[in-house]
Amino acid sequence: MTVLARTSTDLTTKLALSSPASTEAETTAARPVIEIRSLSKVYDPKSGPVLDDISLSVASGSIHGIIGRSGAGKSTLVRCLNGLVSPSSGRIFVSGHEISALKGLQLRKARQNIAMIFQHFSLLSSRTAAANVALPLEIAGVAKETIRQKVPALLDLVGLSDKAESYPSELSGGQKQRIGIARALALDPSVLLSDEATSALDPETTEQILDLLKDINRRIGLTIVLITHEMDVVRQIADHVTVLERGRIIESGATFDVFAFPKSPTARSFLSSIVAHDLPPEVSALLLPAATGNTDPVLRITFTGASAHQPVVADLVQRFHIRPNILHGRIDYIGGAPLGVLTLVAEGAGSGFESVLSYLSSLGLHGEVIGHAVRSAIPGAHRAAS
Ligand SMILES: Nc1ncnc2c1ncn2[C@@H]1O[C@H](COP(=O)(O)OP(=O)(O)OP(=O)(O)O)[C@@H](O)[C@H]1O
Ligand SMILES: [Mg+2]
Repeated sequence: MTVLARTSTDLTTKLALSSPASTEAETTAARPVIEIRSLSKVYDPKSGPVLDDISLSVASGSIHGIIGRSGAGKSTLVRCLNGLVSPSSGRIFVSGHEISALKGLQLRKARQNIAMIFQHFSLLSSRTAAANVALPLEIAGVAKETIRQKVPALLDLVGLSDKAESYPSELSGGQKQRIGIARALALDPSVLLSDEATSALDPETTEQILDLLKDINRRIGLTIVLITHEMDVVRQIADHVTVLERGRIIESGATFDVFAFPKSPTARSFLSSIVAHDLPPEVSALLLPAATGNTDPVLRITFTGASAHQPVVADLVQRFHIRPNILHGRIDYIGGAPLGVLTLVAEGAGSGFESVLSYLSSLGLHGEVIGHAVRSAIPGAHRAAS
């Protein structure tokens, strides 16, 4: 019989030992806490698999975003992670326990290590905030004295000590979600699954909840799997991201890399609100796939890290006598690191365009010709220099 050893130190001890500067996350980052191997889920054989051969590891202390269109299988994936849904095939390990192979009491015990928060906070309206937080401890049979000590520490962690005796109807959406987070952390989980936990909140409250999650992640090394359709949430706090499409992983990697160089049209379209990879349709419709005597190349330059601050447009003018017409551009910050995408018509580039691309590459920039524009065909293009 498998013995379910608790891997996490008691939350109160962790908090007492931690400070925002000391990160357990940093020291244990390489160890996977979640391992999914060839996971498939079929609900109805007529409609095909909802999850199709998913393999993924999540490092301990990581914040891992999962994005995808509605119906892509995101919620099914997290339900498989906490054993609420049984896979049709494949294996799932969380903190060394094979969730997909456990049943009954063993599964219930293993689940205590995997907490979950939802879009609709599902607090009990008849219980105060403190009593809602105490509920999982009561169900797990924790001693009354321990509960009495632990609940105030949890309320303090989420900044709601003063709302202990309030009922859910007396709390704002953001406060309800904080109580949901405190309740989720009551049994000292190593993993927190968040299924659209900020989707019902306004942008300012979303930001506060994300700050709280990031703070908890840093202070106690909690691994967070974050399902969201809000790219800004991923941009702000996820270190890794996986893109799901029709039950399959189509991209997965460090958030910055996926945001800077998305490979799939789905990821590009998700990112369009954050990174200017794609041109507005009015402009892209005017691009030709091949050069003619009457066209200029359209160049997309991706700036990352330190290269984001290079005076590239001036260099193109001076070195290559190009007259850049800027079509589209934006610089943003992904996890604090700059990422810029600039698309321009390289007027007067002539035939030696390979040397322009090599020059960009020597600066650590990624240059790509994405089409060809007929001279004077693109309205609104802005001449940057001449
Ligand atoms: N219990 C179930 N029985 C049968 N089909 C289901 C069940 N749960 C989900 N599905 C189907 O599985 C597919 C994936 O659903 P899932 O809820 O995982 O998607 P999602 O990516 O979370 O979508 P959303 O962004 O809308 O929440 C959908 O086609 C859905 O109809
Ligand atoms: Mg869902």
